[in-house]
Amino acid sequence: MTSATAFFQEADFITAAYIVAFGMFITGLAKLTSPTTAVQGNKIAAVGMLIAVVATLLNPGLDGGDFLLIAVGLIIGTVIGVPAARNVKMTAMPQMVALFNGVGGGAVALIAWAEFRGAGGDLSSELEVGIPLIFAAIVGSISFWGSNIAFAKLQGLISGSPVKIPAGLFVNIGLLATAIGAGIAILLGSESEGVFVLILVASALLGNLSVLPIGGADMPVVISTLNAFTGLSAAAAGIALNNYALIVAGMIVGASGTILTDQMAKAMNRSIGSVLLGGFGGEAPAVEGAGGETGGTVRSTSASDVAILLAYARQVVVVPGYGMAVAQAQHAVREMAKALEKKGIEVKYAIHPVAGRMPGHMNVLLAEADVPYEQLREMDDINPEFGRTDVSLVIGANDVTNPDARLKPDSPIYGMPILNVDESKQIIVLKRSMASGFAGIENPLFFDDKTQMLFGDAKASVAEITSELGQL
Ligand code: TAP
Repeated sequence: MTSATAFFQEADFITAAYIVAFGMFITGLAKLTSPTTAVQGNKIAAVGMLIAVVATLLNPGLDGGDFLLIAVGLIIGTVIGVPAARNVKMTAMPQMVALFNGVGGGAVALIAWAEFRGAGGDLSSELEVGIPLIFAAIVGSISFWGSNIAFAKLQGLISGSPVKIPAGLFVNIGLLATAIGAGIAILLGSESEGVFVLILVASALLGNLSVLPIGGADMPVVISTLNAFTGLSAAAAGIALNNYALIVAGMIVGASGTILTDQMAKAMNRSIGSVLLGGFGGEAPAVEGAGGETGGTVRSTSASDVAILLAYARQVVVVPGYGMAVAQAQHAVREMAKALEKKGIEVKYAIHPVAGRMPGHMNVLLAEADVPYEQLREMDDINPEFGRTDVSLVIGANDVTNPDARLKPDSPIYGMPILNVDESKQIIVLKRSMASGFAGIENPLFFDDKTQMLFGDAKASVAEITSELGQL
């Protein structure tokens, strides 16, 4: 071995490389907090991960056979991962994240199994290794199998509606007890591979059965929770393998997944418990007919009337929601905004933290359409401005504009922070029908005297408004 090779294989060098990688992970994460720096942050974190992987490969304990296996794994992962990530549609991003996250959990569970076999089944003599390995096997397996169900629901492979399991809570408690019991048996000296497989199978069933009762629309919160699980299981595997990179990266994923879950649940005005206990967020029921509970009347309008109203405005606020994503109307919206700006009208975009169906959904779509970042306003910044906004254009948004969240204490969304669109001077709502949004409840905004509805697919309606603006 040359002295240069020996230098790079020094434990101190490898540790130093890991520390550089951790610095890059944290810098990358910090840069993800703003759309202007997010792409750069992603690249920095990716380079950090490359450094961590190379540093791990420098480990002098690896031999030719190990490298062959690693190369095969890299090739399979690259062949599947790169085209999948390049071709995925923006609307399919949540299920993509579910799949990638699940694979991480599955890898951790397999590492735990391989380590169990490597130790000849003896995990009882070194409990500081055995306990984290059992934890990694249970949590990694739950994460993999739970994420698969989340993927299948979002991809439409199985129904997105909540699937009620009879005595589900007791079945789940039984499965968890089985997995933990089998783990304890191994830590007490059982060397049976069958018992280890029992841990994996019971956890797998628990993963499946705990996600099945949750409605498709709650999946982003579930995915973020499972993401945190994967991080924790990876950190546990890192403790067992004495690998700092795995411990730190796992803890970062675990912590950020937990914070994201908490913030999403808060912005939706739900407790994490109520999401995980399921039964909410399946297909939204339609609220048919004008008036509904609210008892008001609905005024519908036409694209040409909307264009005239907009042409006389000084400030227009676009309020995008899930319907804009469904219609893929972001490019049409950008064209309309350009037409308005040409007439000297100021256009801003009001971004609610949980508009759409995944964190940052609206930011991503609008960035894709090259909407300037400085026109995007977070909820707290834009809310004081609605009072002096001439026209708010609500494009496929519903729940995030529902004034009942402020005004009606018995509403299921009471307390959820919303965009105060109802304070605008005029409101135009673009949607296809009077159907409700995710929460399945009526929105009194649609019956407000200042509101007019432009019914139709958001993309077609926006394009029509732009064409009418061109003729004014
Ligand atoms: P929603 O309240 O879900 O309403 C979306 C509206 O878009 C629907 O009322 C629908 O009405 C309309 N729409 C659908 N397709 C359309 C199309 N092609 N053209 C025009 N309109 C269309 O959306 P929101 O206001 O964005 O609120 C998001 C909801 O999802 C919140 O309740 C939030 O808590 C929940 N949620 C969010 C997340 C994250 S992380 N963002 C995760 C899970 C759940 P029509 O059918 O009449 O067109």
